Amino acid sequence: MQKITIAIDGYSSTGKSTIAKQLAKSLGYVYVDTGAMYRAVTLFAMRNGFVGGDRQNFDALVRLLPKIDLQFMFNKALGYSEMYLNGENVEQEIRKLQVSKYVSKIAEIEQVRYKLVEMQRQMGLEKGIVMDGRDIGTVVFPDAELKVFMTASPEARAARRYKELLEKGEAVTYQEVLKNVQERDHIDSHREFSPLMKAVDAIEFDNTDMGLKEQYERLYNYALRVINK
Ligand code: DC
Repeated sequence: MQKITIAIDGYSSTGKSTIAKQLAKSLGYVYVDTGAMYRAVTLFAMRNGFVGGDRQNFDALVRLLPKIDLQFMFNKALGYSEMYLNGENVEQEIRKLQVSKYVSKIAEIEQVRYKLVEMQRQMGLEKGIVMDGRDIGTVVFPDAELKVFMTASPEARAARRYKELLEKGEAVTYQEVLKNVQERDHIDSHREFSPLMKAVDAIEFDNTDMGLKEQYERLYNYALRVINK
């Protein structure tokens, strides 16, 4: 069976990664969460004092980019890959709201995008990959055979993310999460380099009122149709 490239883009907290992981598992494909890469660079910037509070020193971050080593390592017990920053497993830390607050700023930096997009293209050379992010169908893999653009109302997305963060024990309010979702939408769609937008040939998928099972079944069927074409 021929292998294809599946690009899943869309707004934050639309459930891209949940669906992408499931698709990759059933197709026997590699799953890559590109948001984790931007988050790991953000964590690096925070730890080095290049971002946080009123601080902002992007030149220093850009100079140190060659020193940032990012690796995905498959965790058999979990059934998916975890993000390692310079050899340290940062999977838990990069999901915190504190990182979400700064990540869109870091993702605006041209040199950061350049480095990460190059790495992502290397990972997809052999196809058989499901990659999720914001610019996968437009910039990373403009020739992907299947492109999906996920949307849902900001309130539905904030409610999902709020529940996740509460379950992880983070002390946040729904309003705080909604504000973060709306701010990230704005920055992600208005930035100069590779803004979030739907590729002309992407399928738009609004899941505001759709359960996970239905989403998975629909997308899995799309994928099979493309693979068997
Ligand atoms: O998917 P996520 O919420 O973990 O992504 C975190 C941030 O990274 C998001 O606000 C925008 C940025 N991002 C990006 O600019 N390009 C990507 N391909 C993936 C994520």
